[in-house]
Amino acid sequence: MAEIAPSILAADFANLQRDVEMLNASTAGYIHVDIMDGMFVPNISFGLPVCEAIHRHAQKPLDVHLMIEQPDRYLEAFRNAGAATLTVHYEACPHLHRTIQHIKELGALPGVALNPHTPVEVLSEILGDVSLVLIMSVNPGFGGQKFIENTYKKIAKLNDLREKFGYTFKIEVDGGVNLNNAPVLVREGVDILVAGSFVFSSADPIKTIEDLRNS
Ligand code: DX5
Ligand code: ZN
Repeated sequence: MAEIAPSILAADFANLQRDVEMLNASTAGYIHVDIMDGMFVPNISFGLPVCEAIHRHAQKPLDVHLMIEQPDRYLEAFRNAGAATLTVHYEACPHLHRTIQHIKELGALPGVALNPHTPVEVLSEILGDVSLVLIMSVNPGFGGQKFIENTYKKIAKLNDLREKFGYTFKIEVDGGVNLNNAPVLVREGVDILVAGSFVFSSADPIKTIEDLRNS
């Protein structure tokens, strides 16, 4: 059974507390918090004060996905704003090993994310150090995009590496997740499904979260 991490990016920002409380009442395992800087990705989402405000009401761990350049500058601040997991992009970190150690020193779980064009093999020397690998199944920057089919192949490769070397990281997939692709993703080895628009635009988000979880 996969854990679900609904993306708060798709919530109603004028009713954030209501939406966080809805997630508290659901079977979601995490709240996925998308931070976009308008540089690493073309969009700006929200920053530290909003993350802190979500944390004040959240009863689920915050899974913070940093889509920002030079994320090292902000690790401590996001940890203080309530991040339980801090995921940085491989493409934004020339000193990824140092960045991952820094996240551990802050007491958070370290994650690394890959854009759709980045092969999983580039992570071979860091897989033993991370708690989470996030595979982007859309080009990061916006919610509501179409799932990229090549993702299945990447997940299968990553799962093979995990089994072959006995690594313990979790595999998370992010972008365009819905009830059609979720069962295949789980079969291929995904542990955490991020879902934004599919959850928040559904008539009954709590039921949708549970349906995804059972997929
Ligand atoms: C995309 C974000 C995703 C996004 C997912 O850049 O990282 O977390 O919110 O939204 P959906 O599920 O709508 O694709
Ligand atoms: Zn995300």
